[in-house]
Amino acid sequence: MGYRRYDYRGPDDLRAMQAMSARAGHWHPGELAWSRFEHIGREPEWPTALWEHDGRTVGWAWAQLPGSLDLDLDPEHRGLAGEMLGWFAGLVPGERAVTVLDGGLRLDRYGYRESEDAPFFVRLRRDLADLPEPVLPAGYRLRAVSGPEDAPQRARVHRAAFSTPEHPSRVSAQSYLQVMGAWPYRSELDWLVETDGGEPAAFCLAWLDGGEAVLEPVGTDPAHRRRGLAGAATLAALHAARGLGARSARVNARGDDAYPSARATYESIGFRHHDGIRSRTYVSGRKLM
Ligand SMILES: CC(C)(COP(=O)(O)OP(=O)(O)OC[C@H]1O[C@@H](n2cnc3c(N)ncnc32)[C@H](O)[C@@H]1OP(=O)(O)O)[C@@H](O)C(=O)NCCC(=O)NCCS
Repeated sequence: MGYRRYDYRGPDDLRAMQAMSARAGHWHPGELAWSRFEHIGREPEWPTALWEHDGRTVGWAWAQLPGSLDLDLDPEHRGLAGEMLGWFAGLVPGERAVTVLDGGLRLDRYGYRESEDAPFFVRLRRDLADLPEPVLPAGYRLRAVSGPEDAPQRARVHRAAFSTPEHPSRVSAQSYLQVMGAWPYRSELDWLVETDGGEPAAFCLAWLDGGEAVLEPVGTDPAHRRRGLAGAATLAALHAARGLGARSARVNARGDDAYPSARATYESIGFRHHDGIRSRTYVSGRKLM
């Protein structure tokens, strides 16, 4: 009892969500900042609610209409899950999919069943004590992003890495500026591989909070893949993070067999799936028409 729900109003509420998830050891603040700010104009599709107890945020639920939800909850307040799912069911009466980072929260008892075919993410980690130096093939160079003036080319290489014919990336120079303005973004942790001619080819954005860095996102333009560029950009970002106090790093990578490249890239530079943490997606309700 004693919970108060309120609707997400803006970046201050994201800070409360980041603090709650960091306290619980679930989502890293950088992952939430990236996800909330990588695109412009999505807020109407993303009804989000926060729950407070004794003035402290203890859970949040972030819908992605038409039917998905990310949910995070302080383990000491697991009993709140039913109310949070009720809020989502009020928004989406049809088929619903709810994703949680596996921290012991199971949704089976709320009428949901775990999806057997949904993609999932595993958490990979790496200690930063023994970090190899980045090595680049001839014709490329590494540098950190210098500031807002880099936003257009930084967004361009992101789009090159992540766009498919069916799903062109919606990251733009404008949305990248929004990411750059978000806490805890630091351009010293945002690394680019460029050709000697100055064309961006690969990147790694790391975020730092409380001694742990997270990678979100990493990518290479398809024209430059399998030359070690993502690995080099990531090692450069990790060296920078270590210089700023990070002792370890983590990343969520697809764990299902349909998308092995990201996990293979992180494993090639020493990341491992140690702690068993992974995302789980639960489904419920009738099919959407
Ligand atoms: C995943 C991705 C970043 C890899 O970029 P890359 O520059 O080609 O990666 P690297 O050359 O540094 O790869 C290093 C190693 O990772 C492994 N690897 C990379 N891509 C792989 C693939 N498609 N299949 C299997 N192993 C792969 C290999 O061991 C590779 O070494 P090798 O080429 O000597 O065998 C790139 O494919 C990409 O941008 N994908 C789309 C965006 C994405 O999924 N980003 C990651 C999640 S945020």
